[in-house]
Amino acid sequence: MRYQGREVDIEGRVRLVMESTLTARDRVGVQDFLLLENHNSEAAFIENLRRRFRENLIYTYIGSVLVSVNPCKELEIYSKPQMDRYRGVGFYEIAPHIFAVSENAYRAMRNTSKGQCILISGESGAGKTEASKKILLYYAVNHHASTLGDRLLQSASVLEAFGNAKTLRNDNSSRFGKYMDVQFDFKGTPAGGHITTYLLEKSRVVHQNHGQRNFHVFYQLLDGGSNELLQMLDLERNPQNYDYLVKGSCSKVGSVSDKNNWKVLMNALSAIGFTGDDLQNLLNIVASVLHLGNAQFGEGEEGATHITAQMAMANAAKLLGLDASTLGEALTHKKLSAKGEEAIVPLNFEQAMSARDALARAVYGWAFAWLVEKLNRSLALQDDTDHSNKTFPVIGLVDIYGFEVLQRNSFEQFCVNYCSEKLQQLFIALTLRSEQEEYTTEEIAWETVPYFDNKIICDLIEEKHKGIVAVLDEESLRPGETGDALFLEKLEDSLGARPHFVTYGHKLANGKVRKPVSPDHFRLLHYAGEVNYDVAGFLEKNNDSLNRSLKEVMRQSDNQIIRLCFSREEVTEQKRPQMAAGRLKKSLLKLSDLLAAKEPSYVRCVKANDTKQPGQFDQVLVRHQVRYLGLMETLRVRRAGFAYRRSFEAFLQRYKPLCPATWPNWYGSVEDGVAALVEHLGYHEGEYKLGRSKIFIRNPKTLFLTEDALQAKKPEMALMVQTSWRGYRERAKYKRIRHAVIVIQSAWRGTKARRRAKRRRRAADLIRSLIKGFIYRHQDHCAENAYFLDHVRYSFLKRLSKNLPTSVLDKSWPASPRSVAEASEHLRTLHVRNMVVKYCTGIRPEWKNQMTQKVVASQIFKEQKDSYPQSVGRLFLDTRIERERINLKVLQTLGSDKVQYGVPVTKYDRRGFKPRPRQFLLSNTFAVLVDRTRIKERLDYAALGGISVSSLGDGMVILHVPTEDSKQKGDLLLHCDHVIELVTKLALMARMLNHVNVKAGSVRFAGARGHEGVVDFVRGSELKVAKGKRGHLLVDSSKGATSSTSRSS
Ligand SMILES: Nc1ncnc2c1ncn2[C@@H]1O[C@H](COP(=O)(O)OP(=O)(O)OP(=O)(O)O)[C@@H](O)[C@H]1O
Ligand SMILES: [Mg+2]
Repeated sequence: MRYQGREVDIEGRVRLVMESTLTARDRVGVQDFLLLENHNSEAAFIENLRRRFRENLIYTYIGSVLVSVNPCKELEIYSKPQMDRYRGVGFYEIAPHIFAVSENAYRAMRNTSKGQCILISGESGAGKTEASKKILLYYAVNHHASTLGDRLLQSASVLEAFGNAKTLRNDNSSRFGKYMDVQFDFKGTPAGGHITTYLLEKSRVVHQNHGQRNFHVFYQLLDGGSNELLQMLDLERNPQNYDYLVKGSCSKVGSVSDKNNWKVLMNALSAIGFTGDDLQNLLNIVASVLHLGNAQFGEGEEGATHITAQMAMANAAKLLGLDASTLGEALTHKKLSAKGEEAIVPLNFEQAMSARDALARAVYGWAFAWLVEKLNRSLALQDDTDHSNKTFPVIGLVDIYGFEVLQRNSFEQFCVNYCSEKLQQLFIALTLRSEQEEYTTEEIAWETVPYFDNKIICDLIEEKHKGIVAVLDEESLRPGETGDALFLEKLEDSLGARPHFVTYGHKLANGKVRKPVSPDHFRLLHYAGEVNYDVAGFLEKNNDSLNRSLKEVMRQSDNQIIRLCFSREEVTEQKRPQMAAGRLKKSLLKLSDLLAAKEPSYVRCVKANDTKQPGQFDQVLVRHQVRYLGLMETLRVRRAGFAYRRSFEAFLQRYKPLCPATWPNWYGSVEDGVAALVEHLGYHEGEYKLGRSKIFIRNPKTLFLTEDALQAKKPEMALMVQTSWRGYRERAKYKRIRHAVIVIQSAWRGTKARRRAKRRRRAADLIRSLIKGFIYRHQDHCAENAYFLDHVRYSFLKRLSKNLPTSVLDKSWPASPRSVAEASEHLRTLHVRNMVVKYCTGIRPEWKNQMTQKVVASQIFKEQKDSYPQSVGRLFLDTRIERERINLKVLQTLGSDKVQYGVPVTKYDRRGFKPRPRQFLLSNTFAVLVDRTRIKERLDYAALGGISVSSLGDGMVILHVPTEDSKQKGDLLLHCDHVIELVTKLALMARMLNHVNVKAGSVRFAGARGHEGVVDFVRGSELKVAKGKRGHLLVDSSKGATSSTSRSS
């Protein structure tokens, strides 16, 4: 995450910028040697390296040069998260690392589109190859080069198997120089690569010094190859069986698993795209070398040689695709041509052996060259196989064998050290150049720096006609008597006077011999130290070609790789054949030119001890390397003027808290800001200079004081940072919450509005359908009026349900719309029925009885008798005379006939109409008139002829008894206050419903013995029963009045 333009981690801490570890300098030293107090002290330099090494800080800068100390152990500093830390971060903003150099070169390449190169140097075992692999890894992983990145890394493995070997110094020493171009496409992704190799140490194929091994691939094949493969190649698994593998008496290396590495190699080869045939040809060559090594010669007569190990020779020939006898012949004889005539001369034992070794070296060399070419084809850009294409910027990696001094140094060491020397020269030239360029750009006066320029040694080696290479080539080619001793003599003649060249007996100007040098040695005073070279074998190794007969034989080889290399060699073979040293010189010059055209970055590798022990820091060894790598020189050049330089932005950004004017923000130009800052800090004039874009500080002390002041200021700043961070955090939180609230609000409002709109839409639809329905309401049920009609029905039913009549007597019924009129009627009927059913089912027997009687009363009296309406509202009682009030004797007389009803009446005599109070009791079959103690009259219902009452409001009842029966006394005239009740009950019991007469005016009645009387009913002012005119009984009743007794009941 970035905050105010700076990297911060999760907790919000500003990522440690490089200077911040200045505070820990007592423990971990300085990260940039430029900040060493005493830049002239080698001891201080080494102490700084030691301190950092002790803390596993293997990287330190000298300005932009990275010094790397081999930790001899795996460190957890090359992981993907580590790579991510360096991605896109400025060089000085973060701790020194090989990734920082990689990133810096990458960014420079992206920004300027100019080619970059990273020069990795150091002595054997110092970690150059590892460094180059880390750089490749960084580009492959961090810049998404999935397949190409993989192939780049795989090709490194392949080259290691064929070109690396165990030496005394390094278990995985590169025995060839390597320059690798990584091409980037416009997106900044690695898109192609190209490898150039320099001078493979082919002599190792046939000979290894004690404690060393041949190239890894031989051991890997024997250890890891399947039984079938070994059988096919006629090989045995034991390396001791092969002469070329036993010279160094060290076929196993503790730290290396040949078996595993064989798998790695096979995987890498298949990933790169080696087909079956290619692989077979390659392995045939590797195996043929082993067989050749076992080919032995015996000395015959007259010095002639013959082959003694036919089997080995046959195997070698088979694998090389040659005829065994032809090859044997070529190895033991050579062709001479003189004056147009050819002669075949036998070789002596030594010559035959050296021819065999030369052949082994040559075929291995061809295989290696072919391999590199094949790798290049696989790495080449898809659409462009020419790596010199300039449209894609490249980053070149130079990993060339380190300076090497052995007990016995030969031609190989001479070449290796020549390379070192050349690269050192390039380094000095380019460092000085860039330093000078910086001063010029910044417009600061250049101060001359004294340093050792090794050009003088390079000249000694490569000078035309006079230099060692020129003399060596001359001697190698010269016809006639030649030899290593003669070569040494020539060298003495040519270079004897040079101060950096020493031979036996060579004296200095003052006559002293510097150091004893053996007679067959010469000594070179390399920039990295003195080395004695044994001239033995120089000419032979330099003349790195096969004799003619061998060449002719090899031309017939069936092995495609050999044929290919051979034909190319023939094409390039000029009149004057190229010797090895000359070739190296040429390719190094080419490389120098190539590198000089690029922006260089440097990685200087240092090994901490000679025994590959982790944690051991051998001061003497390190001092030696520091010297010959010219690290002190580099430091002196960079420190000549100023110890520290930073862009104005970086300086102001870091130290602005120290000046009130610049803290927390400076709004003017950065230059003015820096000027204000240094003025406030009180820098003395001369102690610093302001360039165009950078500030230069002369002494580290000044910087340290400033740094210490910054540290003292930090708590205050921390508080400020805390405050602003908290503010920022809270603001962010508040914004988040606010945003959330708004989101919820708007969502809720949206929902509400949508609901409202939906409701409105529904309402509108409803209204519309109602209106439509209303218009079509009189039509048959159709789509237009369906809703309306349904609604009408529904609302009618709803209204109805609330306004249903609750009693049968309530005749009201809500008015129904027309469309439901019929249903309404049905419902009404149903409802009434329902009420009736409910009423009926809910009715009690007594009440039912009451109702029956009332119905009967209604049938008889309704609209017949005036007093009827008043009687409707009054209940008929079961009896009006309690059982207790009936005389016991009467009851006994009645016996089992139970009195069903009793009522007090007034009986009028048939004659004279005298009123007599009586109890009128009804049983089921007869009625009796009872005076207080006895039954006066008994009237069987069966004998009852009829019942008459008047239509007026009186209580008169006339019970007609037929007079045929002489025993009968005639009709009974009774007056009762409850006439309606009495008549009803009597009519019911006597089943005389149809014999009750309600008459107006007069009623006739029969008396005893045929006598007849009349009762007149009149409507008077008050109720009165009295004897009227003509012997009639006059019953006067007021209109609507009931008898006072009935009223009182
Ligand atoms: N950065 C590193 N981290 C861990 N181990 C390392 C590192 N650099 C080097 N080594 C160890 O040191 C050994 C030698 O390193 P390397 O092969 O890179 O040396 P070199 O400089 O290429 O030597 P030569 O000139 O002989 O090829 C490696 O095999 C590895 O074990
Ligand atoms: Mg190496």
